Amino acid sequence: MSHHPSDIAAAFDDSPIMRQLHDLGGRRRRLEDVEIEFTGQTRVLTVSNQKGGVGKTTTTVNTAAAIAALGGRVLVIDLDPQGNASTALGIPHSADTTSIYDVLINDVSIADAVQQSPESDNLFCVPSTIHLAGAEIELVSQVAREKRLDTALREYLDGLEQPMDFVFIDCPPSLGLLTINAFSASDEVFLPIQAEYYALEGLSQLLGNVKMIQKHLNTRLRVSTILLTMFDGRTRLSQQVADEVRQHFPDEVLQTMIPRSVRVSEAPSFGQTVISYDGSSAGAIAYKEAAVEIVKRGAPRRKGRK
Ligand SMILES: Nc1ncnc2c1ncn2[C@@H]1O[C@H](COP(=O)(O)OP(=O)(O)O)[C@@H](O)[C@H]1O
Ligand SMILES: [Mg+2]
Repeated sequence: MSHHPSDIAAAFDDSPIMRQLHDLGGRRRRLEDVEIEFTGQTRVLTVSNQKGGVGKTTTTVNTAAAIAALGGRVLVIDLDPQGNASTALGIPHSADTTSIYDVLINDVSIADAVQQSPESDNLFCVPSTIHLAGAEIELVSQVAREKRLDTALREYLDGLEQPMDFVFIDCPPSLGLLTINAFSASDEVFLPIQAEYYALEGLSQLLGNVKMIQKHLNTRLRVSTILLTMFDGRTRLSQQVADEVRQHFPDEVLQTMIPRSVRVSEAPSFGQTVISYDGSSAGAIAYKEAAVEIVKRGAPRRKGRK
C-alpha cells in the first residue's frame, strides 16, 4: 500500500501534536503571559551529546537567548573549537581574541574573556577560537587538568556583583578533556536528542560517562534535562523516537519539542539566534517554551536530600 506524502501529512495535521505545533498564535499569547522570577541562584548546565549535528549548539544559544529575553542573566561558554556558539551570539572570535582557550591554558580569568552579546544586555559569552583545537592535548600536562574550567568559573561567579542565573556550556561531540572540564564545572547535563532513527544509539555510553564523572570528579552532576530537536511532525518516525525517549526518561524530557525549521538553521549566518532573527517563528516559540520549562522546573534536587 502506498500513500502520497501529502496524504500522510494531512492525516497527521489532525493529530494532537500537529494541532499543538500549528497553534502558534495561542502559544505566542501564552508566552506573553508567563511570569518568571529568577532567584539569583546560578544553575550551570553542560549541553552535551557525543553525536555531532544533533542540535547542541543551536539549543545552547537559543535557550540562552530565550532565558535572557525572559529577564534572566545568562552566560554561554563556547567550549567547541568550531566556535559556532560564539558566531550565533554575534561575538567576535578571531584567533587573537581572548577566549576560553586562554582561561584553560593561560590562567586568564573569565572576567577578562567574557563579552556581551549584541542581542541582549543579559546575555554574555566566553568565545572559543581556533586555538581551542589544541587545548585537548595541551591540557594533558596541566595541573588539575579536569578542574580548570570549574576553578575559573567559581572564581568568576563568586566575584560578580549581579549574579548569573544560568551558565550554558556548549561542548564538542566527544568525551575529551574539554567535555570533562565542562562536566566537572556543572550541576546539570542538558541533552539534546535529535528525533531520528539512531537517536538512542550511544546514549548509554554518555550516561556511563556521566556516572563516571559523578563518581570521580563531581558528585553534583545530574542529567536533568532532555530536549527533542529537529522534530518533524509529518513523520511517524519522529513521533516514535519521541515516544521512546519519553519512555526511557519520563522525568527528564521536556514537554516542548523543537521542530525542524529553516529559520532556526538560517539564523547563525546572520550572527543571530532565532529568538532575535525571527522571534515569532515556530522554532523561536518552541525554544522560548523550552526556556520557560527549564526555568520553572528549577534546579534538580540533590541526591539524598529529597
Ligand atoms: N530545529 C532545527 N531546524 C533546522 N535545522 C536545525 C535545527 N536545529 C539544528 N539545525 C541545524 O542542524 C545542524 C546541526 O546543529 P548544531 O546545533 O550545530 O548541532 P551540534 O552542535 O550538535 O553539532 C546545523 O546546521 C543547524 O543549523
Ligand atoms: Mg556544536
